[in-house]
Amino acid sequence: MADLIIRDVTIYDGTGAEPVSGDIAIEGDVIAGVGAFSASAAASIDGKGLAAAPGFIDVHTHDDFAAVLHPEMAFKTTGGVTTSVVGNCGMGAAPWASANRMARALDPAPLPEWNGHRGYLDLLARHRPSVNIAMLIGHGTVRHAAMGNDARAPTGAEMSQMKAMIAEGLEAGAVGLSSGLIYDPGRFAHTDELVELATAMRGTGALYATHMRDEGTGLLDSVREAIAIGERAKVPVQISHHKASGRAAWGLVKTSLGLIEEAQRRGLDVHADQYPYTAGSTILSAIYRNGGFGNAEPESVVIASAASHSAWEGKSIAAIASQMGCDAASAAERVLEAEPGATVVLHMMCEDDVKTVMAHPSTMIGSDGLPTLGGKPHPRLYGTFARVLGHYARDEKVFPLAEAVYRMTGFPARKFGFADRGVLKPGFKADLVLFDPKTVIDRGTFEDPNRTPEGIAAVYVNGQLTAASGKSTGARAGGVLRRARR
Ligand code: ZN
Ligand code: CU
Repeated sequence: MADLIIRDVTIYDGTGAEPVSGDIAIEGDVIAGVGAFSASAAASIDGKGLAAAPGFIDVHTHDDFAAVLHPEMAFKTTGGVTTSVVGNCGMGAAPWASANRMARALDPAPLPEWNGHRGYLDLLARHRPSVNIAMLIGHGTVRHAAMGNDARAPTGAEMSQMKAMIAEGLEAGAVGLSSGLIYDPGRFAHTDELVELATAMRGTGALYATHMRDEGTGLLDSVREAIAIGERAKVPVQISHHKASGRAAWGLVKTSLGLIEEAQRRGLDVHADQYPYTAGSTILSAIYRNGGFGNAEPESVVIASAASHSAWEGKSIAAIASQMGCDAASAAERVLEAEPGATVVLHMMCEDDVKTVMAHPSTMIGSDGLPTLGGKPHPRLYGTFARVLGHYARDEKVFPLAEAVYRMTGFPARKFGFADRGVLKPGFKADLVLFDPKTVIDRGTFEDPNRTPEGIAAVYVNGQLTAASGKSTGARAGGVLRRARR
């Protein structure tokens, strides 16, 4: 007998196929039946008017530390996310001492210590968070552990050290290696270093994910570099938050998508992820450097979180400067001195580009949410998946709903090697979202971002009801997803 049957629901199975109406049975942590079947169950719910989809897989997160410090992770589950891929943008969970520096920027709470990537995953396996966690090894973190913030090529001994840390991570079950080539110290790495390190993954199925060197006018060279690294190392590539940032770069995504297509035609496994907004978010220290703001304007750089200076939150650097009675550069310096980990929101993209990237079949969905919890984080933290379903699929008709669901379920599951998730089919794990396709929508705004989406009725992680109608149930049924070899 099944534990639960959801009856009469519109089933989006995660493959992109047209939806069908039917029932879904859950037994323990597994989907026991989908479609038309007869079974009895301990409990049943009426799914009329609702859509059922596999739980959303957030392929681009920075939830490494939130999974430990705030394991309930309501900011994920209330939006339908059942799996987070952590360790993006070169910032990973090990070695601990280097990871801890990054953790400080996001959350002042003290972090328990772990030993290596294996120690991190083992800790999560013991103290389960509410969502499943898959881990990328962070190139920046590994490089920092081997050679600090030195702006030079690694020595032979330092390369060996980095390779040993990457091997340890792969052995522990990492799904890939990420780089963050605008951040310290990742930006000091040349292409050859990245090729050599990525080569450690050859034949494992693990992928190279990258926050590229330049997402502005240098976007095309950056995409070429990412593809070249994958091609030379013979590993799959995932381009992080594909976009063109800054007015001078708008429109370049048409060509960068062409580069991805061309690589795919040559047989390379290259894809990208995207968050559904025209604003980005990162740490201020990556934007303001050597007296300049890169391709950003001080008016478009807004403080998102500054733990002990909440008065700055929601204000632009330009506004803070005029309050301080100084120029923008001095204001940025003062903010960084007081709040080295301050995060910012940057209004830098255009809606046409967001839609062009989303419509393209190489794009999956990843929030890039920064779980600072306090302050005014970018609303993508809560709203990403509901916004793609409600705003972009239903209202703007960028693609059919079935395709939108595929981009956040079956597609990422295949790319990241989650063999028994991402599709609603008997024998697969019971990660499941029930939502109302007529009402689903994000509600967070830049002024008021900490709001759960509307229309996400119920979220099951490994068969456990984890969120319902915008509230976490407190269930912590998430598991650790270690890489399965292909
Ligand atoms: Zn990034
Ligand atoms: Cu990121």
